[in-house]
This record gives sequence, structure tokens and C-alpha cells, in this order.
Amino acid sequence: MKKSIRAVEVTGKRVLVRVDFNLPLDPKTNEIMDDSRIIASLPTIWYLVEHKAKIILCSHLGRPDGKVVESLCMTPIAERLSQLTNLPIYTVSDCVGPKVKKAVAKLKNGDILLLENLRFHPEEEKNNPDFARQLAELADIYVDDAFGTAHRAHASNYGVAKLLPSYAGLLLEKELKALGNLLTNAQHPFAALLGGAKVSDKITLINNLMGKVDILPIGGGMAATFLSAQNYGVGLSSVEVDKKDLANQIIASAKASNVSLLLPLDVIVADAINDQARFSIAPVSMIPANKYIVDIGPQTIELFTENLKKCHTIFWNGPMGVIEIPQFARGTRAMADLLANLHATTVVGGGSTAEIVAEMNLSSKMTHVSTGGGASLNFLEGEVLPGVDVLSDE
Ligand code: 3PG
Repeated sequence: MKKSIRAVEVTGKRVLVRVDFNLPLDPKTNEIMDDSRIIASLPTIWYLVEHKAKIILCSHLGRPDGKVVESLCMTPIAERLSQLTNLPIYTVSDCVGPKVKKAVAKLKNGDILLLENLRFHPEEEKNNPDFARQLAELADIYVDDAFGTAHRAHASNYGVAKLLPSYAGLLLEKELKALGNLLTNAQHPFAALLGGAKVSDKITLINNLMGKVDILPIGGGMAATFLSAQNYGVGLSSVEVDKKDLANQIIASAKASNVSLLLPLDVIVADAINDQARFSIAPVSMIPANKYIVDIGPQTIELFTENLKKCHTIFWNGPMGVIEIPQFARGTRAMADLLANLHATTVVGGGSTAEIVAEMNLSSKMTHVSTGGGASLNFLEGEVLPGVDVLSDE
């Protein structure tokens, strides 16, 4: 267990809080498309406001590659945070240096300052010691609430934690508990519903979950590699040819471990992957050679539904089809609806799976929706997350 923010006196102290406000922005309008990560960080922010700390929030946004990129400034995030809290959020045009020191010195107890995008400095991603020291100089205490960034070892979530008394924020604690329970304390039957484009992205996860889950339904682009490995024609769908043996090994290991690995029985196939394409249902034994698999079909939805209904715990990561195109998002939406209405522990991995659940307004009906994409995957793969590892133990 990591030392909790609750274990330290924060009143009057300058508290540097690493949050993950890396939000999806509309490429045309630059508007925030999903503010779930801000909402998830509110318990820690409120805790610090109520305990009258001087709150210094810092985050990255996007991948500006060490340069100032206007469209990746934190201003819209500060505005949204201000709307959500109904509090003024002070901002400053950098994250280190004299201007920032001045802005911190002006803070009164309970005030909130949001620093500018950490990744405008190349030193952040390099975990540069001097940059970490400059961040550390701003505060008395460091709190990590950026679960989404915990798989990175950057200056603001790793270097700085070695320089200041460090504590886990409330979101970080919640994430570690919900995801940790899946690995050590899940109620059975336990299913991992997996989708997404590639088998290669999920191999370590599947291997780590194999001894733990009872049911493993597989949809999304990665199902094509499994189907092809089982000698089904998959039309024009992209197949990771070099992963076919591995797919067969996974199928064999599922059998040996008594895990019910479920592949699609039918799929939606289309002429092309765009919203004008004609599409139809095909059983997996009759996928036309000139079509792409774009979603799971109705029989598969039924198969997955019947199996998931039996479960006490479900972890879901990865869409079932091409969710960017509404007519190919039906399988994914059906799974989201199902999970939201089950009396089971439902944990949704971050990234695109969390985004669709948020877009459907179903987040509050899940037991936990992770704010971490890569971080939640790495955690469930059994990896040590550097951003968590570096924090002081209880
Ligand atoms: C994420 O969105 O997964 C985190 O904020 C980490 O972002 P990154 O992949 O750009 O490091």
C-alpha cells in the first residue's frame, strides 16, 4: 500500500498534484470531447480545497514533443475545471521558472493553480533531474493522482516523487483497488471481454488473465487473426499472420485451463470501411473474400450476452467493431448496454472503451471505468507501474 493523501497534514501546505488531464480534443474546434478524467480527479481536488491546501495541479496534454503547441495549451481544461468546481482556477503560461514561482507564492489556502502543459518542455518525458527539481521546488508535498500516466516514468510523476514527500491521490487509490481486485480478489465466474485491433497488443494481458478468468469472449479486429488461425476465410480483414500460431496457442491454453474462449459466430461485413459502405451479416464460415469484418453479428452478441450474464465480475477492454462509424458500433454499444445493466462488478479499461461508455452516459452504471488506457493494460498485464512504484510505502 502506498501512503495516502489522507495520511498527511495538507493545510497551508503547497501541494503539487500530478493529474492526468490528457483529454481528447476535437481536432477542428479544439473542444474537449470527454471530460471524464477531470471529473475523476475532483475527489482529490475537493479534498485539498476542503483541507485548505495551496493546490498546484500539473498535467500533460497530447504529445507536443517538447515544443509549445498553441492547440495543446491548458486553457480550455482550466475553464472546464472551473465550470465543474465553480471555483476560480488560476493559470500561468509555463510549468517551471520565475513566473510560476510567483504564481505559487500568491496562492492562498484553498486556491487552485493549473500549470501549463508539462510536455512543452522536452525534459519532462526524459525525466530530466533538473526539471524534476524545478517542479519539486514549487511545493512541500507531492500527490500523484495521474493513474493514466502511471506507466510512464517522467519528471512530473517519477523524478519529482523522489524529491518530495510523496502520496497517492484518491483517484490513484481507487484505480489500484478496482484493478487490483480483478487480479487477486475477483468473484467468479469472471470474464474478460476483449476487443480492439490487434492480438499483439493483448497477448501479455491474455496470458496474465488466463489462469484467472472463466470466460474470454473475443471480438474486434483481433478476432480476425483468431478466426484465420482456425482456418476461416476472413475476406479483406487485416490479419497478423505472424500471430496466428500464437492465437492457436492461446486457444489451446484456454482449453487446458478450462477457460471458455468465445470467438464470433457471425460478423458484420462491409464493402469498405466508411460510412457509405454497404454491409450485411455473415456467419464466420461464409465471410465473402471481397469484404471486411467491421463488427460482431447478432448471434455473437447473443452468445456473449448469455455468457456474460452468468458472471459476477467482468473486465472489458477494446471495441467489438469499427466504432468510429455508427453502423459498425452496434456490437460495442450492445456490450456497453449489457454491462451497465448487470448486477455484477463491471470494470471498463480506459482509452476508447471508456470513451464510448462515457459518450453513452453509462459510466456511472459501471462499477469502475478506468482513466488509464495503457496504464490499466500494463497493470493487468502484471507489470509494475513506475509512477506507482516510486511513491512512498505506508
Ligand atoms: C494516456 O492518455 O494514456 C496518458 O495520458 C498517457 O499519454 P501518453 O501515451 O501520451 O504518454
